[in-house]
Amino acid sequence: MSTNAKLDNTKRQFDIKLVRQDFPILNEKVNGQPLVYLDNGATSQKPQQVIDAIENYYHHINSNVHRGAHALSDKATELFENAREKVQAFINAKSRQEVIWTRGTTESINLVAQTWGKQNIQAGDEIIVSTLEHHSNIVPWQMLSEQVGALIKPINVKPNGELDFEHFKSLISHKTKLVAVGHISNALGVINPIEKIIPLAHQYGAKVLIDGAQAAPHLVIDVQQLDCDFYALSGHKMFAPTGIGILYGKQNLLESMPPWHGGGEMIEKVSFNKTTFNQLPYKFEAGTPNIEASIAMGAAVDYLQQFDRDELINYEIELIEYATEKAKTIPELKIIGSDCNKTSVLSFILEGCHSQDVGMILDQQGIAVRTGHHCAMPLMDALGLSGTIRASLCFYNTKQEIDELFAGLEKAKMFLM
Ligand code: ALA
Repeated sequence: MSTNAKLDNTKRQFDIKLVRQDFPILNEKVNGQPLVYLDNGATSQKPQQVIDAIENYYHHINSNVHRGAHALSDKATELFENAREKVQAFINAKSRQEVIWTRGTTESINLVAQTWGKQNIQAGDEIIVSTLEHHSNIVPWQMLSEQVGALIKPINVKPNGELDFEHFKSLISHKTKLVAVGHISNALGVINPIEKIIPLAHQYGAKVLIDGAQAAPHLVIDVQQLDCDFYALSGHKMFAPTGIGILYGKQNLLESMPPWHGGGEMIEKVSFNKTTFNQLPYKFEAGTPNIEASIAMGAAVDYLQQFDRDELINYEIELIEYATEKAKTIPELKIIGSDCNKTSVLSFILEGCHSQDVGMILDQQGIAVRTGHHCAMPLMDALGLSGTIRASLCFYNTKQEIDELFAGLEKAKMFLM
């Protein structure tokens, strides 16, 4: 427990029993067994506070934002913009203009590729990504590269799942216009050394985009301290609904970028002679936004911020260390992503068993994990794997649930070996 938590009595003390009561789905039974939800990397569960925010919106507020000449629209606009400010504080952006609502990390990355990317990347330029990336931080850059004739250079991954920083140093050059890397690997939970990558990229004049989808629920994010140029994240991984996320961008970059989607809200004046565009952040928010999800994302930020984040982070470290120790007791189990800086994910194979079969047997016992390539096929290829079994943890999980996972794996072994 951090010292701050003891001193700061404005924060809610972390109590696992009470925290679990906040998440109603954790009381569900699946296949007749109490749910053990270990698929948080895919999506997180939602606390009652977030569910209430959605219900309250539709019961009492539902209205369009920025448009109406009536009280409900004013209220919806106020909550919607307050939520933006909560997210701004959550990532420590300098201004609310730097927080663009999107549908999620994938859309945020595509936005940068098709606006900043098209404007600034030309034939012969290079984009560095890492082999650990989720497809959503690879494919938008491949699409852009095909459009403009740029080259993609992937940073190698070491056999233990760590990004090879020395290889990054050998790739970066004045031809590099952009470095796009994940904060945390979704497949392995490995934390990439972005605090070293960002300044080095800047020395060469390259911009840096961080895919923070997996980091937002597990780390404290400070975009000013990181000094990244863009940071993308999704609401649904951090206890908010699906279909909402943000793109953070440094204001001068966002100002210089052309709009992406055209439509209402993103304009200043429309005429057949010339259309001019709205100021930030609205320039990138064409059409009616996902109002209730934005407001619910504000509620998710409130939920997280009521705790001392260090307490949650330390508890998650305790869980992953416990799971890692238990994993060592199964001789056929090989952890993928080991002996490196990582968080919250136990990705592994059971030698002699197909991952999908193991996942199915766990599911019969009410245990939810993800199996397969985890939308990271280049990583699996580099590690010589077809896929892994991924148990991804969250602060509402318990050591008892980890015990149940390992009891489930013993059963899987009995059936499959
Ligand atoms: N990106 C999500 C995952 O890692 C879907 O499972």
